[in-house]
Amino acid sequence: MITGDRGFFVVRVIIERVAVPERIADDTTGDFVGFVDVGNDCALHLWRNDDFVYDPADQLAWYRPSPFRLRMLYLARLDGEPAGRLLVTVPLEEEATTAEVEVHVIPAARRHGIGTALLRRGEDLVGDAGRVDVSTFTEHVLADIPSGARTIAPEAGPVGLPADDDSVRFALANGYALGQVEEVSRLTVPLPDAVASALQAQADAHSDGYRTVTWWQHCPEELVESFAAARARMVIDVPHDGIALDTERWDAQRVREEEQRWIDAAEPMLVAAAVRDGSDEVVAYTILLVAQDSKKVEQWDTLVVAAHRGHRLGLAVKLANLRALAEVAPGVERILTWNAGENAPMLAINAAMGFEAYALDGNWQKRVGT
Ligand SMILES: CC(C)(COP(=O)(O)OP(=O)(O)OC[C@H]1O[C@@H](n2cnc3c(N)ncnc32)[C@H](O)[C@@H]1OP(=O)(O)O)[C@@H](O)C(=O)NCCC(=O)NCCS
Repeated sequence: MITGDRGFFVVRVIIERVAVPERIADDTTGDFVGFVDVGNDCALHLWRNDDFVYDPADQLAWYRPSPFRLRMLYLARLDGEPAGRLLVTVPLEEEATTAEVEVHVIPAARRHGIGTALLRRGEDLVGDAGRVDVSTFTEHVLADIPSGARTIAPEAGPVGLPADDDSVRFALANGYALGQVEEVSRLTVPLPDAVASALQAQADAHSDGYRTVTWWQHCPEELVESFAAARARMVIDVPHDGIALDTERWDAQRVREEEQRWIDAAEPMLVAAAVRDGSDEVVAYTILLVAQDSKKVEQWDTLVVAAHRGHRLGLAVKLANLRALAEVAPGVERILTWNAGENAPMLAINAAMGFEAYALDGNWQKRVGT
């Protein structure tokens, strides 16, 4: 409990662990709903739209226990009302060193030390779990960064973050170093026909010997092992100078667990993969998370396995997924994607498709307990 003097009142902040109920009706204390509401309040404030506003019932699946990650949720109440939240995510691979701590404080309750108290609690939990590299993230809409703003540079990559931003000041004040900046870009869909067909001609001219396969919600059984192997490459193959990343173990069971989780969260996966002709070997893939009834979808991993680069397979799978998207969710208007600022090949594909710079994400890290 933190107590502080605010005028004539003594304000009290209580931070408590949040249980993930089976159903929203079981959330008798309202803590889980409060946890989701705090995230929604911060998302509306930051993005000024509802792209990252979630229904608590859909979020249950995302937070329920997983064999691959431990998630701990905490809610800070200020005078009884939800004011801040902490999410700690610990990968369960034995040799892992990292964990993620996310802190959000509603705009009306900022600068009262709630963020710091939540972050300290998160760092303690990471230490207790035996992990030493704590990551946290900050998000910055480009249109809100004043022109000529002083920037702070990451350890790797060409793009910096605005040094006077609240969350940058907060991360620096708490001893975090800026490891990497990801560029968030946005594409309006559908692509104009002329753009789509010119890009498809390019992809076709280079991708002889490969076919594209798309699936909605469930990976075809014959590809699931190979898809799992490709998923494991992702954390190894993305640029990650300046940040510690753990390897992930993937098998068919993990693929199935993840796809079911996203189905339950009402945001199923739409996947396009490139497969070597005459085999079931997945050599490239790209994932869209398609929230039901939403105007936006999120582009997640895109990977071309190293030995198969140079065949425009990244472009081929992205185009195949856009065609599939038009079928499964014709109402979608925009796609958001995240790429390391130094990932020039991926950014070049995105630029050719018409993605436009929209925001920046800072990946901050700190060592604890050493
Ligand atoms: C970043 C965030 C969590 C801070 O929460 P908070 O409760 O306001 O943080 P605190 O009151 O504990 O602030 C701690 C220190 O951070 C720095 N700081 C925080 N906000 C600041 C601001 N607007 N301007 C300058 N410094 C700021 C200060 O050093 C502050 O200490 P001080 O108040 O004694 O000067 C909150 O602004 C937020 O939720 N932002 C959106 C989500 C986010 O970016 N989370 C990730 C953060 S790594």
